[in-house]
Amino acid sequence: MEIVLARDPEDAAERVARVILARLERKPDLVLGLATGSTPVGVYRRLREAHARGEASFARVRTFNLDEYLDVPADHPQSYRTFMRTHLFEGIDIRPENIHFPPADGADLVRRCAEYERAIVDAGGIDVQLLGIGRNGHIGFNEPTSSLASRTRVKTLTERTLEDNARFYGPGERPPVLAVTMGIGTILSAREVLLQAMGQKKAQAVRNMVEGPVSSFFPASALQLHERVTAYVDPEAGSLLTMTAYYRRTRSLQEELRRAGRL
Ligand code: PGA
Repeated sequence: MEIVLARDPEDAAERVARVILARLERKPDLVLGLATGSTPVGVYRRLREAHARGEASFARVRTFNLDEYLDVPADHPQSYRTFMRTHLFEGIDIRPENIHFPPADGADLVRRCAEYERAIVDAGGIDVQLLGIGRNGHIGFNEPTSSLASRTRVKTLTERTLEDNARFYGPGERPPVLAVTMGIGTILSAREVLLQAMGQKKAQAVRNMVEGPVSSFFPASALQLHERVTAYVDPEAGSLLTMTAYYRRTRSLQEELRRAGRL
């Protein structure tokens, strides 16, 4: 795993956006795996801005979102489809038929989750997967004890996730207790993973992910099994890492090799 110690959250978002735009330039029909939550907002803003400046077209891009709450209507303010519309899709030229979410309502979910996996494969696989990380180590909604080989499926939310969500729902509403999420195996099948973690409250999670043992009890640690993961952390999120000098040195030596055209 490559660790990038960003100056601050804006610097992290800038770096991630630059990588995505570089990949898009090389492959206009890029397949993007997308995340929701507060973490990717700055990246999405930069992608919208690049599009507005005429520097990037998403007309051929295909997207697959990581997860969605079960039985939360698409137009509900808390649905991830609303989040993506607001933060990214409305501001770029992506075609609606190229946007994909895991099935999050109705019947036959096992079959439709398998179809979601097949749609990813049919698109050629995910080129770049964006990720955040939960304090309990979840990636997508793969909560602790998720199988490291899991694929898209219905997942039960933990108490902590339920508590975090309760405030977003009105008195008469029932907050979701279930979600549909890509599995850890799905995420590991992406060609490249860009993970961001910001703020002190993510510091222990970053430490566990990078320097802890691989364990389904801390799902993000499974990323150690992937050959191309870059984790962008701000100084607070990186504050519990023990090998920061090494990560810094690695990054600068690697960049030197890249600049020399040797990598
Ligand atoms: P956040 O959530 O981006 O809102 O911090 C990340 C996550 O829980 O996966």
